[in-house]
Amino acid sequence: MDTAQQIAALLDKEKIPGHVAIIMDGNGRWAEGRGKSRLEGHEAGARNVKVITEACQELGVRVLTLYAFSTENWRRSKQEIDSLFQLMGRYLKQYSGQLHKTNVRLLHMGENDGLPAKTVNDIQKGLDLTRNNYGMDVCVGFNYGGRREIVRAARRLAEKVRQGELSPEEITEDLFAEHLYLPMHNEVDLLIRTSGEYRISNFMLWQISYSEIVVTPTFWPDFSKEEFFKAIQEYQTRLRRFGGRP
Ligand code: IPE
Ligand code: IPE
Ligand code: MG
Repeated sequence: MDTAQQIAALLDKEKIPGHVAIIMDGNGRWAEGRGKSRLEGHEAGARNVKVITEACQELGVRVLTLYAFSTENWRRSKQEIDSLFQLMGRYLKQYSGQLHKTNVRLLHMGENDGLPAKTVNDIQKGLDLTRNNYGMDVCVGFNYGGRREIVRAARRLAEKVRQGELSPEEITEDLFAEHLYLPMHNEVDLLIRTSGEYRISNFMLWQISYSEIVVTPTFWPDFSKEEFFKAIQEYQTRLRRFGGRP
């Protein structure tokens, strides 16, 4: 047994988080430290997605959400953005096949509007291929912003009110959550951010209201199975109160 497996063996199987969300940060700094290009950092980051998906499957995590490209990442150079989308397209193809073989459903959390047509097409193919799988859900945030998601939900509700389908009093937290991108996954149990940044960067603002948070200094391409299992271990030491008294 390697160290990762030893840690996994010690975990409480009754307390595996159902939904883990990850802000996969630090690809650029990982590359910089190795004298590589930012793109090589993103390549290494993309490869690591497979490692962590497998780790989730081993533990029985039901939902993994990954922040891949934010609505603010458009502020980067055109060169970085173009090469990122090219790379994502390539990985989506490979990755969807692997997900499909292991009964995983791929979901997209974010806006197609603004994405290159080719990327939308690559995403759609992955969604179509894995549509009927039920082992686990992997949700990927391409062109995702938490504020954008909340505004979109508000607009959809406002439209229903305008059409006379709904009255304002009927808008509850549950109904609001039904208008988010992925209404079936609107609670995150564990939020992980790599690369040591203590911020949310506009990720899942609604869904993380009672998430446990683990921040690790490790850059995303180096975030191994062992580290992932350690994050779960840390999660299992937390007492989740949800505002009540234990
Ligand atoms: C995360 O790595 C990947 C994306 C945001 C697309 P970064 O590219 O943000 O890496 P750093 O933060 O510059 O190291
Ligand atoms: C968050 O990382 C977005 C993704 C991981 C896709 P950023 O690197 O964009 O976040 P900031 O700019 O450091 O807050
Ligand atoms: Mg970053």
